[in-house]
Amino acid sequence: MTTAVVVGSQWGDEGKGKIIDLLSQDAEMTVRYSGGNNAGHSISNAGQKIALHLIPSGILNKTSRCVISNGTVINPEILIAEMNNLKQHGITIDHLTISDRAHVIFPYHILQDLQQENDRRTIGDPLGTTKNGIGPAYMDKIQRIGIRVADLLNRDKLNQQLKFNLMQKQRVLDTELFDQLPPLDELVEKYYQMGQVLKPYISDTGSVVNQAIDRNQRVLFEGAQGAMLDVDHGTYPYVTSSNPVSGGACIGASIGPKAIDHVIGVGKAYVSRVGDGPFPTEQDNSIGDYIRETAHEYGVVTHRPRRIGWFDAFLMKYSAQINGFTGLVINCMDVLTGFKTVKLCTGYKLDGQLIDFYPASNEVLNQVTPVYEELPGWSEDITQVTSFAELPVNAQNYLNRIAELTKIPIAGFSIGPDRDQTVQIQNIW
Ligand code: IMO
Ligand code: MG
Repeated sequence: MTTAVVVGSQWGDEGKGKIIDLLSQDAEMTVRYSGGNNAGHSISNAGQKIALHLIPSGILNKTSRCVISNGTVINPEILIAEMNNLKQHGITIDHLTISDRAHVIFPYHILQDLQQENDRRTIGDPLGTTKNGIGPAYMDKIQRIGIRVADLLNRDKLNQQLKFNLMQKQRVLDTELFDQLPPLDELVEKYYQMGQVLKPYISDTGSVVNQAIDRNQRVLFEGAQGAMLDVDHGTYPYVTSSNPVSGGACIGASIGPKAIDHVIGVGKAYVSRVGDGPFPTEQDNSIGDYIRETAHEYGVVTHRPRRIGWFDAFLMKYSAQINGFTGLVINCMDVLTGFKTVKLCTGYKLDGQLIDFYPASNEVLNQVTPVYEELPGWSEDITQVTSFAELPVNAQNYLNRIAELTKIPIAGFSIGPDRDQTVQIQNIW
């Protein structure tokens, strides 16, 4: 058996898609286990970029089964559009499987998301969500009023569930928002029809994944978002509503914890964050601006400029702890080329004292002073490098220091956005 989970180690957008693209070439199955269309990455196919939000990047590998498992929340309209887009690009999707247990995002979830963000904005404290209805869909799941993919296939049950849900939403939503919703019959018909489109792909993905594991196949679990956006471990409430951490793969893909062999944490050589919330190493200055423009750090989903900061090894240690990383991939090393010196945050000071835990309180996180180590930078063009040894010594030292501080070996690094600009050090398959 060889299984691996690829997890975002920071606040999302770490370039997970690139690593998953690489590893899924030899995977026999790729499984997306949490989140919804709040995630965004683009894959390159014959020189064309295709944006994906729900479908695993492994879709390009025809021999690898692609699974959207129970832990995800699915907006069927978006999923079908994504499927059609792939087909239009000549990419077969016959190897796609969608969980009957995944929860469905309805238009009222999006309105609830908007309403809550607008209300929070009036008190000056928005979360900066992607406004895709992710949080409200997970709320309904926990509240036990959610509608699952399997329910889309039963018109009578769907009618009954939607009738009840509309009653509930009428109590929650402002009248002007509620009135934007289509009437019950229309909603039932539309979602039933989308269920029919998805029907050939729907199955009990838990069995599918466990059978693959029993057959000793190479199974790759594709994380979305990042550990610091985890609803339990991240900077709550400035998080997403699911568990992107490696453990989320167990619940979100119906597997036991012993079924996971490798946990690859993906990070960037610096840190980015889109949306609100604390960010101790943030560089809201010319350094951040330079990195943002050099690396085009703008969101794939919402096109918002991303906030930028120095690499935070203290955060990464915490991330390693909650994920159990067996290897670390550091992306975007090329972006740091040209800095005279580069900084690594090794710890946080609170009232002049180093702390030895990652604070739960955002007020505390906003108060801490990051402690930096300054390392000599590199100016050589590293974009064509094909091995660790070819890196300039200062870039090697930078990666070695990250491994030393986090106690996690470097599994790979990237030196540019192209497919062949990733150097793999650990071979997991
Ligand atoms: P990928 O998979 C970066 C952030 C949002 C917001 C918070 C809550 O591309 O790394 P939500 O819509 O999930 O309720 O928003 O989480 N967020 C992400 N940030 N990358 C992502 O996904 C994200 N998914 C959600 O910006 O701060
Ligand atoms: Mg993103």
